[in-house]
Amino acid sequence: MKKNLVNILAIETSCDETAAAVLRGDLASKDPSFQTLSSVVKSQIKIHSPFGGVVPEVAARAHVASIKPVVEKALKDAFPKLKANSYNLKANLDYIAVTSGPGLIMSLLVGVEFAKGLSFATGVPLLPVNHMEGHLFSPFGLNTIDNSQLTIHQSKIGSSQRSNVKGQMSTIQYPILSVVVSGGHTMLVLQKSESHYKVLGSTVDDAAGEAFDKVAKLLELPYPGGPEISKLALEGEANIDFPRPMLDKPNFDFSFSGLKTAVLYYLQGRFPQGKKLKNKAKGGLHHYNFGHIPKKAKADIARSFEEAVVDVLVTKAMRAVKKYNCKTVTLAGGVAANSRLRETLQVKCQMLNVTCVVPEFKLCTDNAEMIAIAAYIKLRAKEKTPPYHKVKADSSWEI
Ligand code: KG4
Ligand code: ZN
Repeated sequence: MKKNLVNILAIETSCDETAAAVLRGDLASKDPSFQTLSSVVKSQIKIHSPFGGVVPEVAARAHVASIKPVVEKALKDAFPKLKANSYNLKANLDYIAVTSGPGLIMSLLVGVEFAKGLSFATGVPLLPVNHMEGHLFSPFGLNTIDNSQLTIHQSKIGSSQRSNVKGQMSTIQYPILSVVVSGGHTMLVLQKSESHYKVLGSTVDDAAGEAFDKVAKLLELPYPGGPEISKLALEGEANIDFPRPMLDKPNFDFSFSGLKTAVLYYLQGRFPQGKKLKNKAKGGLHHYNFGHIPKKAKADIARSFEEAVVDVLVTKAMRAVKKYNCKTVTLAGGVAANSRLRETLQVKCQMLNVTCVVPEFKLCTDNAEMIAIAAYIKLRAKEKTPPYHKVKADSSWEI
């Protein structure tokens, strides 16, 4: 292997996915140049579904059960000749990267402590990575050392598949405006160069994904709510005029809490028989029950709500593009899986003659490949690894 090529094992356990990935990247190339050798994601959706949302204690226990098999699978996929129980990881890995925040503290601790143990036992240096930096850099995920020969091993536990994809670095030009939308965050980020970025604005209350999840609960849709709303919205019409919060403000901040309340008030107006259920844990919109809401009414609400979220996100993003003369727009985070958001952003970018890079679905929701990419970008920027024992989980680490 060329001297400047490094292998990075990344571990991600910040919420309800146990994930590991191996990336090989060139630290000396002019532009980011890397190949994903493996990516494994073990979802906990089935475990949390009966509760209607992620239960932190349950999530942490599931990470404890999954972390070893997930990391082993990622290593095996990346290095098929490795023999189980006799790994010489020092010979194959140059860095271990781990998500150390933000996220659920008990879940983060599982990944962080596992990674520290691995680093201690093997002597491979450990790099803490911010989960949101993972999302931010995930659109670089199709870049490759050699486009003609790229093979990505994308695997779920128990099944592996391969796919060939083309690199896209040539299409990414700075400055970049990144729209980062997840379950916990909503941010517009200006990337001036590979190693310099600035958060232009973020949400002052609920994140976009959180609003999707809460409105899904009001409509009594299963968890996770985002994909359910977007599926239902396909059958509805945008015929309800929900508010576009903060659109009249000249800044790049967002607020989605009022929009969710507007949906609640709309439901209360249309279905007055609905009531707040008693004998449940305190607070929380999901404790409303509106009885039977016809499917068409639900679909129209879903579509109109989705339209309002997309309108606010895309309009503010385009304002930032114009203000900072951005050449590229990237979209990242779980909500980037929303097809209306993807399409609308692409259309508006086309109108401004700006390149729009939207990652594959597997790179939108939580995964370890994006953590490996962020680690690689940080290493290219000469970031030093701290002693492994100094790496700590930080549930509210902000970028
Ligand atoms: O990035 P992510 O996987 O986890 C966090 O870091 O939060 O994002 C999860 C969020 C959830 O709120 C989920 O409902 C939302 O992304 N989401 C979607 C879609 N798929 C996932 N929201 C809208 N439309 C979708 N298709
Ligand atoms: Zn995330």
